[in-house]
Amino acid sequence: MKKPITLAVLSLFALRLSTPFASSEPAEPVITIEADKAAGTVSPVLYGLMTEEINHCYDGGLYAELVQNRAFLDDPKTPVHWNVISAPESSATIQLDPKEPLNSALPVSLRLEAPMASGTAPAGIANEGYWGIPAYSNTRYKASFYAKAAPGFTGKITVSIQSEDGKTVYASRQVGGVGPAWKKYEAALQTGSLAAPVKARYVLTVDQPGTVWFSLVSLFPPTWKDRPNGLRKDLMQMLVEMKPKFLRFPGGNYLEGETIKDRFEWKKTLGPISERPGHKGPWGYRSTDGMGLLEFLEWCEDLGAEPVLAVYAGYSLKQERVAPGSALEPYIQDALEEIEYVTGPVTSKWGAQRAKDGHPQPFKLRYVEIGNEDFFDGKPGSYDGRFSQFYGAIKKKYPHLQCISTVAFEGSKCPERARIKTQRPEVVDEHYYRSTDEFLKMSTDFYEKYDRKEPKIFVGEWAAHEDGRIKPWQKEALSQPPTPSMKSALGDAAFMAEMERNADLVIMQCYAPLFVNVNPGAWQWRPDLIGYDALHSFGAPSYYAIAMFGSNLGDQILKLTKTDSPLHVSATRDSKTREIFLKLVNPQTVAQPVKIDLKGVVSVAPTATAITLAANPEETNSIQEPTKVVPVRSQVNGIKPSFKYTIPANGIVVLKIKS
Ligand code: AHR
Repeated sequence: MKKPITLAVLSLFALRLSTPFASSEPAEPVITIEADKAAGTVSPVLYGLMTEEINHCYDGGLYAELVQNRAFLDDPKTPVHWNVISAPESSATIQLDPKEPLNSALPVSLRLEAPMASGTAPAGIANEGYWGIPAYSNTRYKASFYAKAAPGFTGKITVSIQSEDGKTVYASRQVGGVGPAWKKYEAALQTGSLAAPVKARYVLTVDQPGTVWFSLVSLFPPTWKDRPNGLRKDLMQMLVEMKPKFLRFPGGNYLEGETIKDRFEWKKTLGPISERPGHKGPWGYRSTDGMGLLEFLEWCEDLGAEPVLAVYAGYSLKQERVAPGSALEPYIQDALEEIEYVTGPVTSKWGAQRAKDGHPQPFKLRYVEIGNEDFFDGKPGSYDGRFSQFYGAIKKKYPHLQCISTVAFEGSKCPERARIKTQRPEVVDEHYYRSTDEFLKMSTDFYEKYDRKEPKIFVGEWAAHEDGRIKPWQKEALSQPPTPSMKSALGDAAFMAEMERNADLVIMQCYAPLFVNVNPGAWQWRPDLIGYDALHSFGAPSYYAIAMFGSNLGDQILKLTKTDSPLHVSATRDSKTREIFLKLVNPQTVAQPVKIDLKGVVSVAPTATAITLAANPEETNSIQEPTKVVPVRSQVNGIKPSFKYTIPANGIVVLKIKS
């Protein structure tokens, strides 16, 4: 009866008539909504996204580069993810060569020595990609690499996308003229018609004996908006459909690094990718920094989302910290320059750099986050001092910016014990990774208890997992599917309803982590919102729940009361269209009839639209079954100022009522 749909076609989906209530169900609670007056203003930036390099979120994920270990820096000893191509009639060896670097940013190259090679028996190198190179039908790829050759080599280099066994070539081009000096070579690779996308490998071969060095070997498929060095299209499409209002970047732990030297150094992420050294990330693999500061900002631009810029604040995960005072000054200066890069006119030093990098227009910036999860900083008073020093310097130069602290301010109801007291932040970032049961429990009055005189709240990371005993980073978590089931979506939806009811205080919130490459070995944390491999992508049920809630919000909070029940509810309204958005979450295994009273409403349209996500708690989506749990849209008749409605078992519903 329920036909699966993707979010893209949600609005086009044929309306289904549903009976507003059934008779053989439990006694009905009453939900009373004061629909004639706003109880508060919904923050216009409530729903956003949080991202960092975790789970191969950028490299091997959103960042569309297909070659893994493109600069040969991933392992100092061996060219991981690269293999030698040789046939019985050809031979070759490969080795990292620190003596022939392209430049100081990429201090190692790959030396190919091919004592035997010919046009019919080429020798070379093959890259396995990020768990495969996707070969798509009728697609134009951009291949590029740097190369040079030892004297005597006059042959050609063939670049090709081939089946993993090398038997089928999907696209191929030859380049010549490789000489003794480093030079960049570029080629367009065009595939023909393929019945379906396939996992392939990327191959560079020589047709003559010789020694050739390679650096920065890159391959890009078409990207979102055709941006060079751009983003993967299917994943961007999924994000656009969520209509996020902001993007928090670059982390998360990724901002801090395990040690100070491993922090996200934004200046090293600018300019041509051949000049970006990359760095060691905190999640067990190296980052190319192909996703640099400008790419993050352009990503925001493409989403129509505003940046929430997190600046490094002098604390790294292995308890390395910079003391407040003069030692912290260079880090503060660095943050001020970063803000100038984002917002400064082209006449400013860093605004000019941004223009040189290709984006003269400054970006709009309102929120700057000082650090990440500094409640883990074990030194008493450390963050208190660091935050107030950053705050003072930022406000002096950029008084309009709102500073977000990562530790609660004294007097807060936040359950995290750490507090700062010297400088009151404008906004506090709180993180909640909890089980569905815990979210259901806390989502009754959690933010109702906060004093409205407290700083505003940014829930900068949150996610419900199914099982309270398993922590997201533990081995036990890594043996489960990386994206969560419907059970988590129910916990997530309950918490979103809680945040919406308090959207005067909670001004921003974003689920984390956003992405996961689902290949074994590619990820470090569960649950995650959007899963993918080289060829496919899918959203967890929570993805749909967030998209349903976030794209049906309005700007006014409506006060509601409900008689005792395990339901979770929020009501908001669009002040211009007068449309009411009622979110109903039923975590029970039975359908729940309810009576809904819209107080103060003179008349309502007799039909409403329901968007429903309902499934057994253990059901989920996956690469194999990407749309097993998706929302359905239906028409509900019999809507009146007082009406009855049945929420399906394990159900999340957005009711859109025209008042
Ligand atoms: O989202 C995963 C990690 O959880 C983030 O990097 C960190 O901020 C939090 O502890």
